[in-house]
Amino acid sequence: MKVTVVGAGNVGATCADVLAQREIANEIVLLDIKEGFAEGKALDIWQTSPVNLYDSRTIGSTSNYEMTKDSEVVVITSGLPRKPGMSRDDLIATNAGIVKSVTENIVKYSPNAKIIVVSNPLDVMTYCAYLSANFDSSKVFGMAGVLDTARYRAFLASELNVSPKDIQAVLMGGHGDTMVPLPRYTTVGGIPVTELIEEDKLNEIIERTKFGGGEIVKLLGTSAWYAPGASAAQMVEAIVRDQKRIFPVCAWLQGEYNLNDIYLGVPVVLGKNGIEKIIELKLNDQEKELLAESVEAVRSVMGVLDNMNASV
Ligand code: NAI
Ligand code: 2OP
Repeated sequence: MKVTVVGAGNVGATCADVLAQREIANEIVLLDIKEGFAEGKALDIWQTSPVNLYDSRTIGSTSNYEMTKDSEVVVITSGLPRKPGMSRDDLIATNAGIVKSVTENIVKYSPNAKIIVVSNPLDVMTYCAYLSANFDSSKVFGMAGVLDTARYRAFLASELNVSPKDIQAVLMGGHGDTMVPLPRYTTVGGIPVTELIEEDKLNEIIERTKFGGGEIVKLLGTSAWYAPGASAAQMVEAIVRDQKRIFPVCAWLQGEYNLNDIYLGVPVVLGKNGIEKIIELKLNDQEKELLAESVEAVRSVMGVLDNMNASV
């Protein structure tokens, strides 16, 4: 069973490495546009197999989509990070061009694939892949919530000095400062987090989570890759092993939460068919208000893409 990762940069290569180490797929194709880059990364990953004792094979490709043929899942990480002097709209235009052409090539060779988008700005790049793939929306979705909840859970584990394994959390909204962590739906070993952490401290952790991506950019001068790569690999695992895991995923909403025609982070059941169910939580007024702010932010970025598409 084959999984393709497009973009052999920091996130893509990390995702491929996790997929191989954990034998989530027996064949992993890593594809990049940069000559020889994916081949080099794939060779390096494959050469860890005798040391780490696994037999999943990672193969590199420079833009040869034939090698991706019949992939069950494709992870799209190709795209530029924002550079100095580049406006948000420039970044959307550049990355939308990349995501569109990558998606068109992918669907040509893997018409039954499930597509996980990672490229930023996440919600709108997922929308772009959906428009380009012409697949059912259950097969095209984005990775952000798994990463954002991982950050939230890691911060909570540090604060409480407990295992991150015992922290369950859900988070909604766009992948950005307006994301909506939900303390009412956060538990530690089954205990509501609100019984274990004071409100002020919890709010501090929530704020840190919202800016968790930026915190790493400040430290490293570029965005994160270990947690994003592992998060995308966890979504792949849920699909290829038909685990029916519940994750926050960037999904196309058609009436859920009274929202239409928008890609937004919501809890879903992820299995072999992709998004098998969107879970509708009962939100209180405050949570609804925060979600509405996030919806507005995501819609404004989706509007930039719609305007670009309308003008071509
Ligand atoms: P990177 O710059 O290390 O890797 C991107 C790779 O994409 C490069 O190797 C580049 O050659 C390749 N690429 C560009 N155009 C291509 C094309 N047309 N076909 C195939 N490959 C192409 O960047 P990094 O750190 O891996 O991040 C990748 C993307 O993921 C960025 O847009 C970043 O903002 C986003 N990201 C999203 C996260 C999320 O939670 N959704 C978390 C972290 C990063
Ligand atoms: C992150 O959250 C920048 O989306 C990237 O790390």
